[in-house]
Amino acid sequence: MKHTAIILILLQCCLALKTNSTILHKYESIFNFGDSLSDTGNFIRSVAGLPVVPKFPYGKTYFGHPTGRFSDGRLIIDFIAEAVGLPHLKPYLEVVNNGSIDARRGVNFAVAGATALDPTFFATRKIRTFTMTNNSLSVQLDWFKKLKSSLCTTQQDCKTYFKKSLFLVGEIGGNDYNFAFANGANFEQLRPIVPIVVGAITNATSMLIEDGAVELVVPGILPMGCMTSYIATSPLLDKDDVNTTTSCLNRYNEFARYHNGYLQQELQHLRQKHSHARIIYADYYGDSMRLFESPKQYGFSKLIQVACCGAGGPLNFNVSMMCGSSSHTCTDPSAFIQWDGVHLTEAAYRHMATGLLDGPFTSPRLVA
Ligand SMILES: *[C@@H]1O[C@H](CO)[C@@H](O)[C@H](O)[C@H]1NC(C)=O
Ligand SMILES: *[C@@H]1O[C@H](CO)[C@@H](O)[C@H](O)[C@H]1NC(C)=O
Ligand SMILES: *[C@@H]1O[C@H](CO)[C@@H](O)[C@H](O)[C@H]1NC(C)=O
Ligand SMILES: *[C@@H]1O[C@H](CO)[C@@H](O)[C@H](O)[C@H]1NC(C)=O
Ligand SMILES: *[C@@H]1O[C@H](CO)[C@@H](O)[C@H](O)[C@H]1NC(C)=O
Ligand SMILES: *[C@@H]1O[C@H](CO)[C@@H](O)[C@H](O)[C@H]1NC(C)=O
Repeated sequence: MKHTAIILILLQCCLALKTNSTILHKYESIFNFGDSLSDTGNFIRSVAGLPVVPKFPYGKTYFGHPTGRFSDGRLIIDFIAEAVGLPHLKPYLEVVNNGSIDARRGVNFAVAGATALDPTFFATRKIRTFTMTNNSLSVQLDWFKKLKSSLCTTQQDCKTYFKKSLFLVGEIGGNDYNFAFANGANFEQLRPIVPIVVGAITNATSMLIEDGAVELVVPGILPMGCMTSYIATSPLLDKDDVNTTTSCLNRYNEFARYHNGYLQQELQHLRQKHSHARIIYADYYGDSMRLFESPKQYGFSKLIQVACCGAGGPLNFNVSMMCGSSSHTCTDPSAFIQWDGVHLTEAAYRHMATGLLDGPFTSPRLVA
């Protein structure tokens, strides 16, 4: 009896381990779309020659030098590639300029500053915003279509190949709101565009499925009300909006939850339309919120609203003196959730990746 129990426990342990890695290792490539949360070098290549961020100390923790990633080290997409057993994803703008890179193992189309909607949308709606890049989601999809002929040739070949690929459609959409809020747009102006932003994301997801994608992860947006940039610059910093337990701004977080709720509802419709595809929602909001709620439990000993790299001051943040242009960099980034007030540290991204791969923050589960 006793022995049977032990054997069963052993069996369960090892089957579980085997299942995880088997499920992840079935992916032979990863294709990623998005913004600075997952850009591994497209933005710096798209503005080559201009003295823009990310300069040192970006990359200081992991790569030792700036790579175009907007963090001190690896991003969620890097940890996912590692778990799948693939190299870190090369940026599309490097792949097209270097014929010796094997694009068949995956390509990253994400560009820092990208929006889900094209910049012209905001202009025609007279929503004041700014454009950091024109390489929005639709441009990234065009890049994918251009590259496709070098990935696979016949329809059958493409079908077989994309079946074993993991597609990440985002995170994207956060900047559609970030840039407008930063330029004075209010909730009343931006609430009505949420269905349109979500429409761009779900249209992109549909298009990829029509192109052969079967396994797709579509992330929601972060709790923007917890970001240093919002807390430092928001005109709404009145007492009733500050959350008494987290110090995050409730109305901005409520807005992020509205977007995420809408996205999940639309993904449910997509699942009905494309029943052969596995459309996974990734809860970036919940995955990061647990860090903001219980920072000490994850090793974050510093105040959650303070950035590691910035221009000094109580939150170490000044929008006109962003990280890289000053010398106020903390000595231990892993004690901070926030890297530059707009992006998170490698330590925070590592926890988020674990939450997606081993935890409950994907639905249906990425790893069953
Ligand atoms: C092109 O890519 C290969 C393989 O990653 C690399 O070894 C080589 O240095 C790259 N060439 C240039 C000019 O960057
Ligand atoms: C985006 O495109 C518009 C119109 O072509 C151009 O005026 C603007 O400079 C571009 N912006 C960026 C950041 O490239
Ligand atoms: C999404 O696709 C539908 C149907 O083709 C179209 O009517 C709609 O304008 C698209 N939405 C966006 C935001 O591109
Ligand atoms: C404050 O934050 C906590 C934790 O995220 C959340 O459960 C609660 O609803 C927030 N309070 C308000 C008033 O939004
Ligand atoms: C931010 O930096 C600018 C430029 O150095 C400076 O003029 C301004 O006073 C700073 N703002 C704050 C709030 O520290
Ligand atoms: C496999 O999944 C289980 C349960 O989700 C988790 O506890 C374990 O750490 C995972 N193992 C690996 C190797 O990822």
